[in-house]
Amino acid sequence: MRAAMADADVGDDVYGEDPTIRALEEQVAATFGHEAALFCVSGSLANLLAVRSLVPVGTEVLCEAQAHIARAELGAHAAWAGVTMRTWSDPRGLGDPKAIEELLAPDLGPFLVRTAAISVENTHNFCGGSVQPIEMLRDVRALADRTGVRVHLDGARIWNASVASGTPLEDYGRIADVMAVCLSKGLGAPVGSLVVGPADAIDEARVWRKRLGAGWRQAGVLAAAGLHALAYHVDRLAEDHDNARLLAEACGVDPAGVETNIVVIPCADAPALVTAARSEGVLVSALGPQVVRLVTHLDVTRTQAESAAETLGRLLLR
Ligand SMILES: Cc1ncc(COP(=O)(O)O)c(C=O)c1O
Repeated sequence: MRAAMADADVGDDVYGEDPTIRALEEQVAATFGHEAALFCVSGSLANLLAVRSLVPVGTEVLCEAQAHIARAELGAHAAWAGVTMRTWSDPRGLGDPKAIEELLAPDLGPFLVRTAAISVENTHNFCGGSVQPIEMLRDVRALADRTGVRVHLDGARIWNASVASGTPLEDYGRIADVMAVCLSKGLGAPVGSLVVGPADAIDEARVWRKRLGAGWRQAGVLAAAGLHALAYHVDRLAEDHDNARLLAEACGVDPAGVETNIVVIPCADAPALVTAARSEGVLVSALGPQVVRLVTHLDVTRTQAESAAETLGRLLLR
């Protein structure tokens, strides 16, 4: 990957002149069956630009209560897109169309906030890397079409979802009006996410990216890392999923419920477990006072996963 970055042809991306970025954008757009894509610095920015391109100021987005856009983007969608959010809850973070339909208010008169979009997250980060079943997503798409609202897909780990479920990436792309995807998670690129959608939405996202000060110049060195990740690091995601199941088993979580590379474990004192694990070289994060999240990725080998499983299993018994 570093060699590919060093060899990258570059140009000024603010003028659309970086050939490596253009190649990445064209490849990713085609992968998801969309017209265009925009390379940007983070998944959070890609989500913000995606949502912003879909919904007018003063409307609402429906999402699951643990969605990254609701919990972990620090209010960006309120601050920069001017939207509110209402949430449904699902233990696996799934987009249950019945729960969504109960919240939908696309046009109830000038008294209630108008629902403009439904957002689904695939895989679902805080709910343990769960995969949204494609049939359920199709039902969400049909509901959106019936009620005239748009669909945003937070596909930060969409390649994990596809490898785990066997669902083609294009099928996931088809359910979304605009989506955000990340190369910097399990795929192992140092930086980089893309907004993917119709050409007019991507044109609008490009304007807002610059407006927010996130236009970049010779970022082809980063796009080259992304192209390398897509060429060499997709199929191996299955190894991360196996490693996650190994960790789950050691931590007393049913591995059958672990679909991809994230394991959420309940424990008595999450900050204490994080500190104890760190002191033994195992980096995990607390999602709450009694919940810890483990993530496997390109840089965690099977041997390291086995060692981490031993460490965590022992610490959890203390
Ligand atoms: C589901 C999901 N969406 C978006 C993001 C944001 O990505 P970034 O950290 O690159 O802003 C994350 C980050 O973990 C995520 O898990």
